Amino acid sequence: MENIIFVCALMLFPSSLAQNTLNSHEEIIEFINSNQSSWTAGVNFAGKDLKDLLPLFNGVLGLHPDPNFTIPLVFHDTSKIKLPASFDARTNWPQCADIIGNILNQGHCGSCWAFATTEVMSDRLCIQSNGKVKMQLSAEDVVSCCSNCGYQCQGGYPAAAFQYWNSYGVVSGGDYLSNSGCKPYGSSEFNNGVAARCQQACSNPSYKTPYNSDKHYGASYYQILGIETLIQNEISTKGAVSAVFIVYQDFPYYQTGVYYHTYGVMLGRHAVKIIGWGTENGNPYWLVANSWGKNWGGLGGFFKIYRGNNQCGIEGGILVADSKVYSPDPVVFLM
Ligand SMILES: *[C@@H]1O[C@H](CO)[C@@H](O)[C@H](O)[C@H]1NC(C)=O
Ligand SMILES: *[C@@H]1O[C@H](CO)[C@@H](O)[C@H](O)[C@H]1NC(C)=O
Repeated sequence: MENIIFVCALMLFPSSLAQNTLNSHEEIIEFINSNQSSWTAGVNFAGKDLKDLLPLFNGVLGLHPDPNFTIPLVFHDTSKIKLPASFDARTNWPQCADIIGNILNQGHCGSCWAFATTEVMSDRLCIQSNGKVKMQLSAEDVVSCCSNCGYQCQGGYPAAAFQYWNSYGVVSGGDYLSNSGCKPYGSSEFNNGVAARCQQACSNPSYKTPYNSDKHYGASYYQILGIETLIQNEISTKGAVSAVFIVYQDFPYYQTGVYYHTYGVMLGRHAVKIIGWGTENGNPYWLVANSWGKNWGGLGGFFKIYRGNNQCGIEGGILVADSKVYSPDPVVFLM
């Protein structure tokens, strides 16, 4: 871990990062905004102490304890591929734009690992069924039922979540209070940061498909080598990917622009979904969906992070999965 911090901090401003000496939200925001012009900081978690939000910033565990747990590394030949200067999965697959762009909210639970992965599953299910199967797959189902995935609201292994999709399937389920799908995100996770007991049943009484019939499965899962063009190739041919990056003290204040580490110490490792890329004021970026709700930041819950220098490790942990080919006659789906 020390090495990763070192690499990230060195990328743009060798030995120029401010020490962790600022005390208030206001001082930190003021420092970030006067120190650089790539991104802007502002108040996101008003009245909250960042200490109390740590589960939000640290939901990804390191090495899986099972030495036999592996995930294949896929290497695409990109030599003949021409990548566009900018890309947005929502416009490339308009039939799935609302699923791809659906910003969710993990609440007080350290379940980013389940959100980033079920978001990728939902995107791929929609894209690979050509828009016929449009549903948000349930982070709740994975958080509460995947016993090989780690520690539920205290962090988990994104790779194990994809493996769970392959082996056991995942039912539908939207955000907390969305009343959508078989198992919407629960109050226990959202409000208390505690995972509910696993139920092999739908929690939404108005959802008519039974739990077992609502399971959707993955076909394969793999990791992409941390090379910019390989990641771009994967996103532009198959859809969004899940990624992990280091959250530093400055990141929670993100509003707009292209983020890079400007201030503060590491708070944890966070999983998110990359849906595209572009360039803003000369700065290349990844376009990323966060799971802290639509009101976080100034871009409706999305953020942009510097692309091409493994900023905060974002290019180092790219995982994806393919959806099982779906039956031609799907039932009606909710978001
Ligand atoms: C940004 O902050 C660092 C660390 O305090 C400082 O060395 C650097 O000069 C600052 N840059 C600008 C443009 O303010
Ligand atoms: C890993 O796999 C090997 C070979 O199948 C087996 O002998 C060993 O017990 C496994 N280790 C664990 C920790 O499951």
